[in-house]
Amino acid sequence: MLGKPPRDTLLAALAAFEQEGTGRGFAVDLAAGEGRDTLPLLERGWRVLATDAESAAFAYLWPRVPAAAQDRLTTTVARFEDTVFPTCDLVNASFALPFCEPLHLPALWGRIVAAIRPGGRFAAGTCGSWRDSW
Ligand SMILES: C[S@@+](CC[C@H](N)C(=O)[O-])C[C@H]1O[C@@H](n2cnc3c(N)ncnc32)[C@H](O)[C@@H]1O
Repeated sequence: MLGKPPRDTLLAALAAFEQEGTGRGFAVDLAAGEGRDTLPLLERGWRVLATDAESAAFAYLWPRVPAAAQDRLTTTVARFEDTVFPTCDLVNASFALPFCEPLHLPALWGRIVAAIRPGGRFAAGTCGSWRDSW
């Protein structure tokens, strides 16, 4: 995924925030991988907590974060069931939830919903959706 553009679902969520005049905030990028969506969030002025089970993902991400944006990014290595969500404006979970073991999905979803401020958003694409061949 290295170098690929942001997901349409993230862009739609950001466009909706911008239409409302709330152009930037705090996002959790769940299972962020190498930062396909994290980097565009940072470029648009958001603060981001990026999480992933694989520490290698962040070894690819950090060298591509502009110096001026580094203080707005936190990365945490965590599996879904161990992820702690701060209160945030956006949870972005591009192609993430299908990788969560079904046993852990209800609790994960509960923590996602509890973390998003009123007026916030959840953005996600899932494997098998209309634009995905998996
Ligand atoms: C298809 S990639 C999506 C990456 C990125 N969000 C994107 O849209 O390109 C799925 C990601 O889920 C992560 N992942 C897989 N199992 C996980 C788990 N149990 N807990 C947290 N992350 C996990 C992988 O390391 C990988 O980065």
